[in-house]
Amino acid sequence: MKKLHIKTYGCQMNVFDSDRMQDLMTAVGYETTDEAKDADMVIINTCHIREKASEKLFSDLGRLRPFKDEKKQSGSEMIVAVAGCVAQAEGEEIFKRSKVVDIIVGPESYQTLPDLVGKVLRDKKRQINLDFTPNDKFDLLPESSAGTGASAFVTVQEGCDKFCTFCVVPYTRGSEYSREEKKIYDDALRLADKGVKEIYLLGQNVNAYHGLDEKGQSSSLAKLIEKIATIPQIERIRYTTSHPRDMSDDLILAHTNIKKLMPFLHLPIQSGSNNILKAMNRKHSRQDYFKIIENLRKARPDMGLSSDFIVGFPTETDEDFEQTMDLVRQVGFTQCYSFKYSPRPGTPAADAKMQVAEDIKDARLAKLQKLLTEQQITFNKKFNNAQMPVLFEREAPKSARYNGEKIQLWGKSPWLQSVIVEVGDENEAQKYLGKIAQVKILHARPSSLVGEII
Ligand code: 5AD
Ligand code: SF4
Repeated sequence: MKKLHIKTYGCQMNVFDSDRMQDLMTAVGYETTDEAKDADMVIINTCHIREKASEKLFSDLGRLRPFKDEKKQSGSEMIVAVAGCVAQAEGEEIFKRSKVVDIIVGPESYQTLPDLVGKVLRDKKRQINLDFTPNDKFDLLPESSAGTGASAFVTVQEGCDKFCTFCVVPYTRGSEYSREEKKIYDDALRLADKGVKEIYLLGQNVNAYHGLDEKGQSSSLAKLIEKIATIPQIERIRYTTSHPRDMSDDLILAHTNIKKLMPFLHLPIQSGSNNILKAMNRKHSRQDYFKIIENLRKARPDMGLSSDFIVGFPTETDEDFEQTMDLVRQVGFTQCYSFKYSPRPGTPAADAKMQVAEDIKDARLAKLQKLLTEQQITFNKKFNNAQMPVLFEREAPKSARYNGEKIQLWGKSPWLQSVIVEVGDENEAQKYLGKIAQVKILHARPSSLVGEII
């Protein structure tokens, strides 16, 4: 077997894509290794959403250079492929800047990877494929080998037509594409047969899902969830990432009617100021967001909410920023992601004249993150002494155990908190791994809960 090393940056979609690339290469005789050093092939799956993406890529490539040279001296070869959104955005430039790279492949064309590897080996020529062929992609990908775990991703939708003025996704992932309902259902069924208990539906705009149903009509995310919920072995369903504009009434209602749908939603708003939302081309206001939250909480009173925020978007004033702080205080989030605005080449906001100074961005980010952390701690503390069902996903590595030698299991709460429990021995660990068990929370930490199995 040849050895394959994959390094993944970015979102869950990239994690999913890396797994698929691994499946593709396994089918042609590669096995994975954690070490890049003596790999026969290295894939760097890149993310372009925020800054330093290409710097990171080129420093990774620099580190690979001596390994590649060594490989050559010993009479064999190391193929280096750059995949993902930086590959899509920078294309041939990457060949120009780095001699190490043999293959450039985009997020919508990586199904051709084995073919490209074959051509590199045979023709001794660099290969590039940046086509947008999502339809082909899903049909040509081998069955996913993921799913030996408790939770598995299933891509339902890719790309984005919304063109927020800060975002590269519409350019790197292309326009919106939804897979057929039946294909997604079949994937979920297959994963359920392998023991998967939780299906995580993925899409850049997952709630814009409108794939065809078996009658050839446009379905919706709510209908798709309802269908997957009929699979008895699937006990939990989640979806991400949603856009407020597509938070339809039937999807909100699904949170009341479908008990398998977890009471947690990641719903990025980006800013609490209407001026900024407009400049971002978000197509929703802060009032729209409040209304959605109100409806979601009516549908599911214990709903946990998370969001993404960007501070220091061009033209953002102190007043705009205070609107964001105010929105956060009013909503009350469980855990969030927040970023300083980073101009992305080719996006409209990158050319805006009124960029915000870096020190102001730093100060705003620190202030916002302090508030978000306080909210996260408050949310977690609510669960002290509470009981909840936890899906146990894996054993904690020895180095991460919080005390002594006892085996610890890592799981997820319905609200996506990490839950850690101790078990007596390996037999007990195996009994709970991949299953849902009732846990009593003993101690809430800022970003996890410690409990005991009841
Ligand atoms: N600058 C900063 N953050 C960004 N995001 C997307 N583009 C940018 C950018 N140019 C953030 C958004 C998005 C998350 C995935 O990344 O908050 O929701
Ligand atoms: Fe980017 Fe906006 Fe599309 Fe989300 S909705 S992927 S932020 S353009």
